[in-house]
Amino acid sequence: MPVLLEKARPPFLVSNDPAKLDLEVIHGFLSNSYWSPGIPLAVLQRAVAGSLCFGLYHNGSQIGFARIVTDHATFAYLCDVFVLEEYRGRGLGHWLIQTLTEHPDLQALRRTILVTRDAHGLYEKFGFCPLVRPEGYMELHRPNVCEAQHLPE
Ligand SMILES: CC(C)(COP(=O)(O)OP(=O)(O)OC[C@H]1O[C@@H](n2cnc3c(N)ncnc32)[C@H](O)[C@@H]1OP(=O)(O)O)[C@@H](O)C(=O)NCCC(=O)NCCS
Repeated sequence: MPVLLEKARPPFLVSNDPAKLDLEVIHGFLSNSYWSPGIPLAVLQRAVAGSLCFGLYHNGSQIGFARIVTDHATFAYLCDVFVLEEYRGRGLGHWLIQTLTEHPDLQALRRTILVTRDAHGLYEKFGFCPLVRPEGYMELHRPNVCEAQHLPE
């Protein structure tokens, strides 16, 4: 069980307590996002169960999320970051990322990666930069994998 990290700025809270996560809110956003359209709830549940997840809350209601796929020792992949639209532009996304970067399990990682379409400016504030040696990276990318899961056998 990862160390519990919670930061409060009443009425807001950032927490990695899995019991606080509201899967309905998270699924509602992610299944309509540009990066995981149509993600089935069961897939999201498995992803959340296997990740270090941070929720952002307003008076106890979930308004944001970030998921870190990690071995808690050497590597992490930061993904599924969002703040609900009505709460954007007031520093909450920045605070969410700042808080998760402070988690004890993430302090000695050799590499943390992420993929973003347009939020580079947000992550640059935390030391992220474009790939230094992009020619060394490879990927097996299946952007339509959720659609494939709906196909009949
Ligand atoms: C990205 C997101 C989480 C930022 O949340 P937020 O609460 O609005 O962000 P903040 O108010 O803390 O501001 C973020 C900072 O990053 C900057 N930034 C750079 N690119 C940005 C982008 N594409 N979207 C939002 N902020 C961006 C902002 O200008 C701001 O800088 P400033 O503090 O110097 O003004 C939010 O806009 C969101 O949920 N977007 C839709 C989902 C998404 O694209 N997620 C990222 C996937 S990698």
